[in-house]
Amino acid sequence: MNPSNHPAAASEPFSVRVADRVTRLPPYLFGRINKMIYDKRVAGDDVIELGMGNPSDPPEELVIEKLVEAARDPRNHRYSKSNGIANLRREVAAKYFKKYGVRLDPDAEVITCLGSKEGFSHMCLSLMGPGDTALVPTPYFPVHVYAVALASGNVIQLPVTDSDKFLSAIAHTCETLYPKPKLLLLCYPHNPTSVVVEQPFYDEVVRLAKRYNLMVISDFAYADVTFDGFHPPSFLSSPGAIDVGVEFTTMSKGYNMAGWRVGFCSGNRQMIQALATIKGYYDYGMFQAIQIAAIMALRHTDAAVERQSQIYQSRRDALCDSLARIGWEDARPKAGMFVWQPIPEPWRSRMSTMDFAMMLLDKGNVAASPGSGFGPDGEGYLRMSLVENEERLRQAVRQIKACLKEAEADYAGAPAETAAT
Ligand SMILES: Cc1ncc(COP(=O)(O)O)c(C=O)c1O
Repeated sequence: MNPSNHPAAASEPFSVRVADRVTRLPPYLFGRINKMIYDKRVAGDDVIELGMGNPSDPPEELVIEKLVEAARDPRNHRYSKSNGIANLRREVAAKYFKKYGVRLDPDAEVITCLGSKEGFSHMCLSLMGPGDTALVPTPYFPVHVYAVALASGNVIQLPVTDSDKFLSAIAHTCETLYPKPKLLLLCYPHNPTSVVVEQPFYDEVVRLAKRYNLMVISDFAYADVTFDGFHPPSFLSSPGAIDVGVEFTTMSKGYNMAGWRVGFCSGNRQMIQALATIKGYYDYGMFQAIQIAAIMALRHTDAAVERQSQIYQSRRDALCDSLARIGWEDARPKAGMFVWQPIPEPWRSRMSTMDFAMMLLDKGNVAASPGSGFGPDGEGYLRMSLVENEERLRQAVRQIKACLKEAEADYAGAPAETAAT
């Protein structure tokens, strides 16, 4: 008998049973906002988007020209090397030496990734497994938590805003948790809070990492976006850092190459080897023409990277000055692409951060990320990205002001029991 004609085959409908690692992922909190942005745009509304940190400016012309030239070379269309071409890895090592005084062996201590998010996720997969625990700063950039969860690891969240308390919490958790945590994740300039640290912080991290046998991953995505003469230190500059950890950098932010997917992991050779092993199974590396153009960007566009920081700094000032004029707290960051803005009273007490963000979008046509999308510790904040130009940012604040004035009037006019809910 043909198995598909068997009576049992007809009575049991086909079902897709996805893996637990997919079903145990938490719901995507920005889904509601993204749907409303989409619906509004379809309806013809002009939404000012301060949500994602998605750069809106193009890379330098010489980088694009190199990409075109390299794409015309038939030799660049084959599979490339999964760990990246040697000249690109050398350029990354050269930048580390020039900017941070860190010496890296480009063959063993640098690997290219398809954006730092891919590298970070696969690094978690190569280090973590069931029963392993990672310490993650909170509020968190979502992939910092989900990459550990996808690797079947557990996450312990440590509040990031006070760096001294963060260090004490690492020590305390390592002293008290059994089995001890295996991995510490750092991210400075931090997304979403824009918290920054100085080199002694990393010196202490290395000391703790050695004492408690804790591997460290530093996500340095905002290394190149810095303001007011501040230069964020590299974790790898601390003595002994390379014994305990790695650092991810990216061309997405400072070089305006987010869609190109060029990131790097540098540091501890055994950790890099573990990542290289996983990547060797999963991917064939980055399109070679992109790697060649990335070399040009690293070699010749330092001035443009600085100019881009200036642009973000002017946008930061336009946004923060305008918010201060309507009475909001000055939350000016020293680096990164975001303002981590406390929601002012009485709104903070009146409604959830998600409802507040939805109200600004619905009535004010301004999309900002609700802090609660970065975990419960983000409640009470909005993350506002600096990807729109200065005029649009000022306009966004005017729209927020008008929206809140209207909402206040509605609130005042509402019956008491409704106003209190
Ligand atoms: C903290 C942080 N890490 C990593 C990334 C991802 O960067 P990439 O484009 O290199 O994957 C982002 C992007 O927003 C980020 O904010």
